[in-house]
Amino acid sequence: MKIGIDKIGFYVPHLYVDMNKLAKARNVDPEKYTIGIGQEKMAIAPITQDSVTLAANAALDILDDADKENIDFVIFGTETGVDNSKAAGIYVHHLLGLKPNVRTIEVKQACYGATAGIQMAKGHVALNPDSKVLVLASDIARYGLRTGGEATQGAGAVALVISRDPRIMELEDKSAFMTGEVMDFWRPVYSEYALVNGKLSNEKYLSFFEEIWQTFKTSTGLSIKDFTAICYHLPYTKMGLKALRTIYDEGTEADKERLLENLEYSKMYNKNVGNIYTGSLYLSLISLLEHQKDLEEGARIGLFSYGSGAVGEFFTGILQPNYQAHLNQKQHEEMLASRIEVTVAEYEKIFEMILPKDGSTVQLDTEADPAKIKLAGVSEHIRQYINNNRHKE
Ligand code: CAA
Repeated sequence: MKIGIDKIGFYVPHLYVDMNKLAKARNVDPEKYTIGIGQEKMAIAPITQDSVTLAANAALDILDDADKENIDFVIFGTETGVDNSKAAGIYVHHLLGLKPNVRTIEVKQACYGATAGIQMAKGHVALNPDSKVLVLASDIARYGLRTGGEATQGAGAVALVISRDPRIMELEDKSAFMTGEVMDFWRPVYSEYALVNGKLSNEKYLSFFEEIWQTFKTSTGLSIKDFTAICYHLPYTKMGLKALRTIYDEGTEADKERLLENLEYSKMYNKNVGNIYTGSLYLSLISLLEHQKDLEEGARIGLFSYGSGAVGEFFTGILQPNYQAHLNQKQHEEMLASRIEVTVAEYEKIFEMILPKDGSTVQLDTEADPAKIKLAGVSEHIRQYINNNRHKE
């Protein structure tokens, strides 16, 4: 039985800051951000968007009634959840109006969470062939103003439907993965912002990739020539190039050119959004599929997932006949084009807006946020979400 990605879409908040302007404000050469790091725009989440609303907005755009009928498992990958106990997916389940007989959980392992969710979804569908699983990957990446990681922030969510007879990509069974104790990036429960050892995180990302790639090749017999493209977790788009460079001489010149060309397509959305943590790899996959028009049915795509801390996995997918008909490029491009640029001063102001931590009630001004689903406030320690009909949820 073929199991894989039947639908995939993403959502980003309506605000962004230009990386050239951020660089100037930080007295940095703009080319460090645009070339050295490889980012052009950074998505900014207003206070009316959190990881729940971003995910719900992403899912809203891809689900139809048949999906709603068959989804019996919601897996929400995030490292910037809104509650230490309750799964963020339960809010999304409610906001989307899914049926009650659904399992819902939240999965955390830094940027690897959604990959764990996808593998779990695959196992669930193998046991329950008529089921569909909604996998959500949603985060707001924050290191803090004027920190080393500031240029690699971002916000957004990817939603995927995993099912049998997938219309976009069959996920192959063999994968290689590993876990290692690494303090490269973490966020203590008391901290709003991630802590990071930037240099170590780059080194570990690459050493995990190299080791996992060797294991994958040995266990599958596949090599670089078998891949039309490889998508990477992209904390910033230069990272994908750094990883590809470690292996691209294993094949012919044509293999190298093909993989480098397709890497460019796989970065297009990410360089205009920034890091969305657990959704970044899947945003890169959407970027490749929606921009590279020459990918043929049967093409094998490699996917490298890395979650600091650290867990990494390399797995593969095969493009299905007529997969292009099930993508939403027009809608995604329109969403990105309709975003509003904020100045660095406005971004700093938005960044510093936080919800009360003492249980006091707050009602947010939701008028400026064009999203269909948004956070309207907090009352008695409970987040108040609204849907597009502006009804309280
Ligand atoms: N023109 C062109 N390029 C320039 C330049 C200029 N004027 N000035 C500098 N550069 C280049 C540098 O040569 C460097 O390129 P290479 O990496 O290819 O050598 C690049 O710009 C970045 O320069 P620095 O290393 O000096 O930058 P930095 O010290 O400010 O740190 C960072 C960069 C480590 C990515 C930092 O932004 C950070 O800590 N980010 C968060 C952590 C992160 O994203 N880690 C990635 C791996 S971990 C992971 O993937 C999980 C996750 O999502 C967090």
